Amino acid sequence: MTILVTGGAGFIGSHATVELLESGYDVVVIDNLVNSDIEAIKRVKELTGIDFPFYQYDLLSYKQLQKLFKTYKFEAVMHFAGLKAVGESIEIPINYYHNNITGTINLCRVMDEYGVNKLVFSSSATVYGNPSTVPIYETFPLSVTNPYGRTKLIIEEFLKDLSASNPKWRVVLLRYFNPIGAHESGRIGEDPKGIPNNLMPYITQVAIGKRDKLKVFGNDYNTHDGTGVRDFIHVVDLVKGHINALNFLEKTIGIEIFNLGTGQGYSVLDLINTFSSVTSIDIPYEIVERRPGDIAICYASPDKAKKILKWEAEKSLRDMCKDSWNWQINNPNGYRS
Ligand code: WQD
Repeated sequence: MTILVTGGAGFIGSHATVELLESGYDVVVIDNLVNSDIEAIKRVKELTGIDFPFYQYDLLSYKQLQKLFKTYKFEAVMHFAGLKAVGESIEIPINYYHNNITGTINLCRVMDEYGVNKLVFSSSATVYGNPSTVPIYETFPLSVTNPYGRTKLIIEEFLKDLSASNPKWRVVLLRYFNPIGAHESGRIGEDPKGIPNNLMPYITQVAIGKRDKLKVFGNDYNTHDGTGVRDFIHVVDLVKGHINALNFLEKTIGIEIFNLGTGQGYSVLDLINTFSSVTSIDIPYEIVERRPGDIAICYASPDKAKKILKWEAEKSLRDMCKDSWNWQINNPNGYRS
């Protein structure tokens, strides 16, 4: 059974490819390498001892997609490819809408042309906007505050319409909370280009001496210590949820939506303190003003995935810190080391 993985050189996509291979699937990976590194593909092959086809293809090239679907008979598609920086999406929305939405429409069109109708889509908790209560359930109202989040929401709505148009479509939308950590080998991990937007890669770059100190964006939120609270989930737990979702697609039709989170919220200071406790490395930080667009508290109810996908996160915040640090200390400059 061959699975097409789009964006398979990225942080989540590379970890998903390892999990798919180790679960016995055949894979074909495409990635335009705009926001990722071919080294990740080499390391996935090294880690699993399994070779697989990789193409530096772009979802915006319909010709490349047709060539791919002519060559391989895919059972399903795991779709990770997409631009994902909130701040950047505000600066260059045209690129985000074109890349994320047109790319997904191209992918679904060629899937339909070749009779491939099972899709696992990488969505995001960002579609919930600023929830009025927590934990967050899949039935909560959706609202977005930035172009990146809006592309995710629009793609979700498109996929709902697509699956409603024909019962042959089987679609799962997985709403990620905050994926961190890395494969236990330390050979693949999160490798942001330039200054990290996200908290954990910034912490590990401070720990390795690449950054002087962490800026904590606000400590006046209505949380237990005033800093933002998030549902951090180990990337390996996250991708295991994708395997369960693939199995679920075998026995369902239409579209289903699942939160992939731990159900436990931790604050920015909780993460900093846990990281220091695990690594014995102090993280100098400065409290600064809130980051525009940030919300106070965001964590999942993972009950639906637990009940229907028979999946739940198993790794602790300490595991996440240990594995994030193991990746960073073994790869001081990410894949460019
Ligand atoms: C987490 C907390 C910050 C950096 C975003 C996207 C989401 C997904 C994950 C793509 C917040 C604080 C952060 C820093 C800080 N991305 N922080 N100093 O904003 O919850 O989610 O990334 O799919 O869609 O919205 O993650 O890691 O940026 O921030 O204090 O240098 O850490 O204020 O409270 P976020 P994050």
